[in-house]
Amino acid sequence: MLFYALLFFTFLLRFVFVLSTVDTIDGDNKCSTIGCLGKRLGPKILRRRSDSNVPEVIYKVLQEPISKDELQGRSDIPQTLEEFMSEIKESKSDAKTFAIKLREMVTLMEQRTRTAKIQEYLYRHVASSSIPKQLHCLALRLANEHSTNAAARLQLPSAELVPALVDNSYFHFVLASDNVLATSVVATSLVKNSLRPENIVLHIITDRKTYYPMQAWFSLHPLTPAIIEVKALHQFDWFSKGKVPVLEAMEKDQQVRSQFRGGSSAIVANNTEKPIVIAAKLQALSPKYNSLMNHIRINLPELFPSLNKIVFLDDDIVIQTDLSPLWDIDMNGKVNGAVETCRGGDKFVMSKKFKSYLNFSHPLISSNFNPDECAWAYGMNVFDLEAWKKTNISLTYHYWLEQNLKSDLSLWQLGTLPPGLIAFHGHVHVIDPFWHMLGLGYQENTSIADAESAGVIHFNGRAKPWLDIAFPQLRPLWSKYINFSDKFIRGCHIRAY
Ligand SMILES: *[C@@H]1O[C@H](CO)[C@@H](O)[C@H](O)[C@H]1NC(C)=O
Ligand SMILES: *[C@@H]1O[C@H](CO)[C@@H](O)[C@H](O)[C@H]1NC(C)=O
Ligand SMILES: *[C@@H]1O[C@H](CO)[C@@H](O)[C@H](O)[C@H]1NC(C)=O
Ligand SMILES: *[C@@H]1O[C@H](CO)[C@@H](O)[C@H](O)[C@H]1NC(C)=O
Ligand SMILES: *[C@@H]1O[C@H](CO)[C@@H](O)[C@H](O)[C@H]1NC(C)=O
Repeated sequence: MLFYALLFFTFLLRFVFVLSTVDTIDGDNKCSTIGCLGKRLGPKILRRRSDSNVPEVIYKVLQEPISKDELQGRSDIPQTLEEFMSEIKESKSDAKTFAIKLREMVTLMEQRTRTAKIQEYLYRHVASSSIPKQLHCLALRLANEHSTNAAARLQLPSAELVPALVDNSYFHFVLASDNVLATSVVATSLVKNSLRPENIVLHIITDRKTYYPMQAWFSLHPLTPAIIEVKALHQFDWFSKGKVPVLEAMEKDQQVRSQFRGGSSAIVANNTEKPIVIAAKLQALSPKYNSLMNHIRINLPELFPSLNKIVFLDDDIVIQTDLSPLWDIDMNGKVNGAVETCRGGDKFVMSKKFKSYLNFSHPLISSNFNPDECAWAYGMNVFDLEAWKKTNISLTYHYWLEQNLKSDLSLWQLGTLPPGLIAFHGHVHVIDPFWHMLGLGYQENTSIADAESAGVIHFNGRAKPWLDIAFPQLRPLWSKYINFSDKFIRGCHIRAY
């Protein structure tokens, strides 16, 4: 309403202004022409309606609802104030015609503004989920290097280090990503800040299309003495052995999503919904929230059957300390060591409870969970795979994915955290917030001092450090792990900003 009123007054005021400066008006006595109307209207326009001289008919016309169809395909509606003015002047319209034309024009403008608003919100979404040119370039150059340079095709790790991959005396980290630059920052920050890098094994899981670029990067930029494994999902035994529940679930999920709420055209067609809500609903259809790289962590025990304990890292984090103490944490038999996200200094970031992610209006949710239970975060988790294997966590996860699909995504809509909250319910061990500071991708006010003193910082949110929309004051915490003299980095114009 405020928007409408503003638009309305902007038009009317400009109208009055034009009229009082360009005095092309006929007689003052009968007030059926706009000229007269404008003169009387001018000074009073912002006062109370009752004592203005605006003819009743104008209010009546302007208040009548106008349907979208009425404006569809009409070419006679003025597009600008100037057009409107000349048309009105030429035809010497009366107050009613004036009001009808004004109403049509304002409505048309409002519809356009609305469309533009939705597009703007979506654009922001696209800006945060599409791959920037430079990252594309990096992947292409590395793929090219892979095919032309034998040094970019090394087996990772080399044959004599392969036994370390299943040796539980090492610290095993797992990172799943299709972003080479982000992965390189996580890996470099992990190794550089480690007190015993020779004890680190980093398992990098990627997809088919990123495998060559990833292999090329780490062949040419080894982080010795740390051991790096690069492996694509399809190269895992478990993955090639028939039925993979996570793939099936994703396929179904995508089918349901494309039909969700009648599909995208039905969502946009709802005129009473706010643009930001429409944009959010459209985002729910986006495959971004359904990426295999995100779902895959629920199958860690199958992917790493010989390992007892691992630390799972997201690709939008930076490690700023030695992480080996994570292996000393007594997990009390729990599976998932994670930081809680419902208490802490930053009320904006630390306000997440189960009810923030799950739909408690749904009986399946409300009868099984407590809305005020504290949520926890993915991004830097200690997983006790031995304890995990004694549970039904992966089964539970898939059971609830299925339930959500059956109920047309009404249990939750976005992401892999909601089913994670459910599956790990009762299996979470809370670790110190030092180990994982969140919000750097959406809390613009993150204190630099706080961020610098955290063990791990997480750019969760849309303002990823590799995007233009990153917060400039926080980006250096990430970009300091990029070597800007490197030929691939320079060649793709990746800059420190
Ligand atoms: C449009 O959105 C409003 C507000 O959320 C809702 O009440 C209404 O049912 C929706 N209309 C349609 C046709 O979906
Ligand atoms: C896991 O599920 C199976 C079959 O549903 C059940 O028999 C078993 O008790 C469950 N185990 C645990 C630890 O909940
Ligand atoms: C939450 O669940 C209720 C009950 O099933 C449902 O009517 C509602 O649409 C759901 N909300 C969302 C946002 O899906
Ligand atoms: C950030 O700080 C500004 C100025 O103090 C404040 O207006 C804004 O609401 C804060 N934003 C968040 C997300 O806390
Ligand atoms: C950065 O890259 C340049 C060029 O490849 C190399 O000479 C230099 O040693 C690298 N610096 C670091 C700190 O790795």
